[in-house]
Amino acid sequence: MNDAQRILDLRETIRKHDRLYYVEARPTISDREYDALWDELAALERAHPELVTPDSPTQRVSGEPLTKFNRVHHDPPMQSLDKTYDKADLEQFDAYLRKRLPEGTMWDYVVEPKIDGVSLSLRYEHGRLVRAATRGNGVEGDDITANVRTIRSIPLTLPCDVPLLEVRGEVYMTREGFAALNRAEEEAGREPFANPRNACAGSLKLLDPREVAKRPLDAVLYAAGALDGVAFSTHTEMMRAFASWGLRTPPWQRLCLDMGQVFAAIDELEGLRHAFPFEIDGAVLKVNQRALYPILGSTAHAPSSARAYKYAPEQARTRLRAITVQVGRSGVLTPVAELEPVSLAGSVIARATLHNADYLREKDIRVGDMVEISKHGDVIPAVDRVVPELRPPEAVPFVLPTHCPVCGGDVERLEGEVATRCVNPECPAQRVGRLELFVSRNALDIAAIGGRMAEALVQAGLVTQPLDLWSLDPAALAEFRLVAEDGTERRFGKKAQEVMAALDRARDLPLHRWLFALGIPGIGVTAARIVAAPFASWSALFADPLFEDVLAFYEATERKTEDRDLLAGEIATRAQALAERGLLQRDDPDKSFRDRFLLTIKPEMAREMTRFLRSDYAHRVAARLAELGIDPKPLAEAPVGTALAGKSFVITGTLSKPREAFERLIRENGGTVQSSVSKKTSYLLIGADPGGSKYTKAQALGTPMLDEAQFAALLGQADAAPAEPETPPPSPAATPYVQDDLFGGLN
Ligand code: IVH
Repeated sequence: MNDAQRILDLRETIRKHDRLYYVEARPTISDREYDALWDELAALERAHPELVTPDSPTQRVSGEPLTKFNRVHHDPPMQSLDKTYDKADLEQFDAYLRKRLPEGTMWDYVVEPKIDGVSLSLRYEHGRLVRAATRGNGVEGDDITANVRTIRSIPLTLPCDVPLLEVRGEVYMTREGFAALNRAEEEAGREPFANPRNACAGSLKLLDPREVAKRPLDAVLYAAGALDGVAFSTHTEMMRAFASWGLRTPPWQRLCLDMGQVFAAIDELEGLRHAFPFEIDGAVLKVNQRALYPILGSTAHAPSSARAYKYAPEQARTRLRAITVQVGRSGVLTPVAELEPVSLAGSVIARATLHNADYLREKDIRVGDMVEISKHGDVIPAVDRVVPELRPPEAVPFVLPTHCPVCGGDVERLEGEVATRCVNPECPAQRVGRLELFVSRNALDIAAIGGRMAEALVQAGLVTQPLDLWSLDPAALAEFRLVAEDGTERRFGKKAQEVMAALDRARDLPLHRWLFALGIPGIGVTAARIVAAPFASWSALFADPLFEDVLAFYEATERKTEDRDLLAGEIATRAQALAERGLLQRDDPDKSFRDRFLLTIKPEMAREMTRFLRSDYAHRVAARLAELGIDPKPLAEAPVGTALAGKSFVITGTLSKPREAFERLIRENGGTVQSSVSKKTSYLLIGADPGGSKYTKAQALGTPMLDEAQFAALLGQADAAPAEPETPPPSPAATPYVQDDLFGGLN
């Protein structure tokens, strides 16, 4: 079989397994076997970029981040449903149909769950997904094709050749996925989503499909829009056809011959309400015979052939006994309601999240209050409101502690965050979290230590601070017993050797990786590179007052005091060092020195670095590193060049090597990489089949474009191909720094 055939074959096989896994929830091969198929396809497609088609399973996450969504027109419009909370209204609905339809007409009903998500339209032309859109106002919605393509249960192709098939349904986030997403949001200090529907809508509005792909979205299809070349006589027949094409249909449906059966189905569904992986807020009652739809017609907003019956939201009242404060792995303080136990939606609730200080204040929740609780997203118990009439006179507002309840350290609320955090890096509550960060891939990459191992090591008291890893005894570590997910206990065994080897390798990892690993607030992967760059080693950084100087400089320029000039001299020297590393943007003569400086070490970075370096913790880290004989150097991965200093790049199209390699090359030579073209973009690097929006934007803005050869020329290299990680990149071409250029903006 030749490669082209094998590619087609692999795609078909992967599609089949996607369907078995995501649509039918009955996988027939292991994850490992699936991964092998995937890797083979990806490799073949890399070798034959000309054979890559948009409907390949590897192309689900593709395209560039958008700047906005295009509008699409819905024909027929996407309607809503008339809803009721009262079963008597459904009897009236049935009576109304009897009156409207010719004597002797027979019909039956389908009852389905009403999924609480976001309406969606999928347009398939000759079996290919060509467009996905939100409902919008019903007549016009947003084109969210790139985002929807990332949802694995939505087929990119259908095994049918219907000229036009517009299917409609609901995108949702599972309750479990919602809970996990919210945990992560709260840990990151962001406002959590109110419910799965909001989280789902928010996810679909993200402009970068890569981000959407990380959100746990799914979809169910239960209606048709525009159709050409296909017709269905009943709703049930249509659902069967959808399912036969691999489209996910509602997981529960009842065909009912009379209203007695309809009510029984609605009650049965209500009992199952919490058994679905997604939230349902009612039942939908639909006439099954599609031929009757045009006769019945519709109102301005809803078809006359269906009704929604909404279940009452489940709530309970109980007394708030106390408010405790939990400290999460990243140090976030979360107030927790300790409740008089009460039963709600199938379980007994004694605790509920109160989110953060703002939430407490806005809802004026006080200890002793009678409160109303519900399950957000059907899972997370939360206090919705207090019942003011039932407030005891002695109830006083709750104030979040000013010190961490776990370690007694200072707490702080960072600008722009809703969360209050414990800032003590040695807080016991953060031990596992800090260890996980330390061993993570962008940090010191000690892959043999996973989440469970990190937790076990901390619990066993073997590791309190990440640097304790170097004190572990390999033999003892091999004997260490870890409880696996399935509850079985296993020796750490051979993995101990892997840990030791990784710890050895980590000694020589570049300084920025170490700085990132230490979890200094505000110093992420990118910031770590910037703050590490001016230094020859960790010990040099530790001994150097650069960050204090930079901070003082910023503060001085703000305050316009005298010592500014004094500091400026010192900073000029520093700036030169930065410029030599290609970190100081100095190519634009119109920019003041200060502005150019701002492009590198930002005030927040200087502030956090200063604070960190002054802390007792940093001194202990430094002492321990010295004991261990570890002194990380910058960029041991690859020396830095300055050929691209101050230049910003956007990359589009398929290049001869993975995009990351080019990104790395650009960064290593002092340039920056952006995700979309703007006026500030210096160059668009284009490969084969350049992406639409970047290319057109660059054309419109007159942004210079480079192909790989021109890029190589710019780098001063003969060969455009970026170096493999192991081979050293080209030697830096130092740009002389013009001293008097510095003061242009200061005077
Ligand atoms: S049929 C003409 N079936 O509920 C509209 N809708 O409140 C066709 N919904 O906009 C809708 N589950 O987004 C239908 N099984 C189901 C549904 C469902 C949820 C949503 C849909 C609609 C909204 C109306």
